[in-house]
Amino acid sequence: MQFENILYTPLDAPPMPEFDLDDLYRWLEQSHARQDRLRKLIRRFTSENNQQLGEYPWDISIAWFNMTGRGPGWMEGFQERFPGLADHINSCFGIPMEQFGAVIMLPMKSNTEGAGFYHQDNDWYGLRMYLEFEDYDNNDLLIRPTKEPYDQQTMIETPVDLSLLQDREIKAKILDRRQCWYVNNVRACHSTYVRVPGKRRIAVLLVSRFTNFDLVFPKIKELVMRSAEKYPDYVIEWRPENENR
Ligand SMILES: [Fe+2]
Repeated sequence: MQFENILYTPLDAPPMPEFDLDDLYRWLEQSHARQDRLRKLIRRFTSENNQQLGEYPWDISIAWFNMTGRGPGWMEGFQERFPGLADHINSCFGIPMEQFGAVIMLPMKSNTEGAGFYHQDNDWYGLRMYLEFEDYDNNDLLIRPTKEPYDQQTMIETPVDLSLLQDREIKAKILDRRQCWYVNNVRACHSTYVRVPGKRRIAVLLVSRFTNFDLVFPKIKELVMRSAEKYPDYVIEWRPENENR
């Protein structure tokens, strides 16, 4: 298996500690209301098209912010309120927190229904978590491979030109409703699909700092390769379109 071809895999990480999900939702709501300026700052790192997208199917709260490497670190009292989760995020990937620019939490809006939009996260490191993914049999994370085997990110512009993607649309198999996972933002786009609305779903992005590639990339590669070998039935791999059956 080649690293560049791994489009999705659950990640080999310690089990998630218990936490109060209701309280986490309260924290997400409070933080979302208070972080308007910070969200605008983060959006400046994305393209102009992205900034004009408007309505997302999820809200955005930032639990950790350290884009410049000078802090401030944990936000809105996250570490004090969820010490077990904070420890877990700090240790589960074998990459210390200081190496991450942001930890962004995306609770899906309860009124979201149907297909989301295909996109690439402009954070190509692709380290992700679900802190909750209720009813993942009926609600999907969908992956679509690119036609070309790109070696670097080319298509973060949304709306994505779907003619650049293969027809193959693959539902990611979820290992556990609370899991760590990897998504490839170079040779694939992803989207959500909600068949049964109102279920709880919180995705987490661990965003890179842009300046620590040499330090972090080998660790991510090793983690993704090890995980793909551990969960072969869950891995989604890129292959040329004409090899689709
Ligand atoms: Fe995404």
